[in-house]
Amino acid sequence: MKPLFHIKKTLILTIVLCITASAWCAVEKKNVLITGGAGYIGSQTCKALYQAGYQPIAYDNLSKGHKELVKWGPLEIGDISDRQMLKEVIAKYNPVAVIHFAALKAVGESVADPAKYYFNNVYGTLVLLDTLRETGIKNVIFSSTAAVYGIPEISVVTEESAVQPINPYGHSKAMVEQILKDFEKAYGLRFVCLRYFNAAGADLDLEIGERGNDPKNLIPIAMRVIAKQQKELAIFGNDFETPDGTAIRDYIHVADLADAHIKALEYLLNGNPSIILNLGTGEGVSVMEVVKEAQTVSHSPLPTVLAPRREGDPPHLTADCSKAQHLLHWTPQHSDLNTIISTEWRWLCQLLHIGPNSPHLGTK
Ligand code: UD1
Repeated sequence: MKPLFHIKKTLILTIVLCITASAWCAVEKKNVLITGGAGYIGSQTCKALYQAGYQPIAYDNLSKGHKELVKWGPLEIGDISDRQMLKEVIAKYNPVAVIHFAALKAVGESVADPAKYYFNNVYGTLVLLDTLRETGIKNVIFSSTAAVYGIPEISVVTEESAVQPINPYGHSKAMVEQILKDFEKAYGLRFVCLRYFNAAGADLDLEIGERGNDPKNLIPIAMRVIAKQQKELAIFGNDFETPDGTAIRDYIHVADLADAHIKALEYLLNGNPSIILNLGTGEGVSVMEVVKEAQTVSHSPLPTVLAPRREGDPPHLTADCSKAQHLLHWTPQHSDLNTIISTEWRWLCQLLHIGPNSPHLGTK
């Protein structure tokens, strides 16, 4: 009787263990590797992934990223051109997909130092993609840009508009798009390329946001001028063929961009084919409209000075986003100008330890 009792006990124990293990597996989160996860859009996407039930693994060399922005999962410090490190991280976490943000993005710097841009953005990405091929990871979401369109002949661009970048930054992103297409054909890698228009705004809960002291884009510069961190905002041209003469862009809130990445991930995990998508709102906003809204939100003056047009600036650039809306079931929720500027403003005030309605702001 005794051995039979023992067998029964072992059997029951095994069944209990199996049930526990399968229950644990059922709730185990899927890991997603986020290169550039300590950056502006990368960290926002980590937050969105976590909230959607995934486990983000941030992979960042911290050259531009900030470890304080990594709050929703582990941070692995490494470079995308470090094949060995990438392999170790992939073996450790076994991610279902990679969202690739890590890149340099300053257009002017890319003109002055193209080698740096091609090494980082093209060579680095090639090492990353080849490592994914080697390790059998098939799903990639790539952070691309409207800069691939250069100066388009039409003001509302679709994904079918000509790809003709006018600076090394834009070229570096277009080259990666080409590499992805070739890797798909040869190795079966599947991708979603997301071409961002003008990413702007900060986290709605103010948990994260851009931390650099030397922003290159209109809205962060405008807010820093209001906060007396810079003397004035140069308006690059007021003689464009637009209603108020200043250039028109399509600003998209970073939380809406993050949400699009979750939807792109689910699109890929559901087995859908590779695709390139514009991400914007389709609504054009001029430089002067940004200036006015920044003053309204902060209740403070924004000193401006007229400057010549910046080389390579198109007068009007907005996105046709119908494809992303249709295929990803994605609609921007937070990209009205007021939300973009007020989150940016509140985030900057928090960073600088000043009150958003400080009476001293306008008079200092
Ligand atoms: C560029 C890139 C875009 C990239 C983004 C972030 C192109 C076509 N677009 O957008 O892909 O994602 O940078 O790196 O290359 N402005 C001023 N004064 C300033 C700063 C900007 O008047 O001090 C004006 C610009 O002339 C432009 C608008 O504000 O009309 C927006 O400029 P910016 O924020 O730099 O973004 P883009 O150049 O549109």
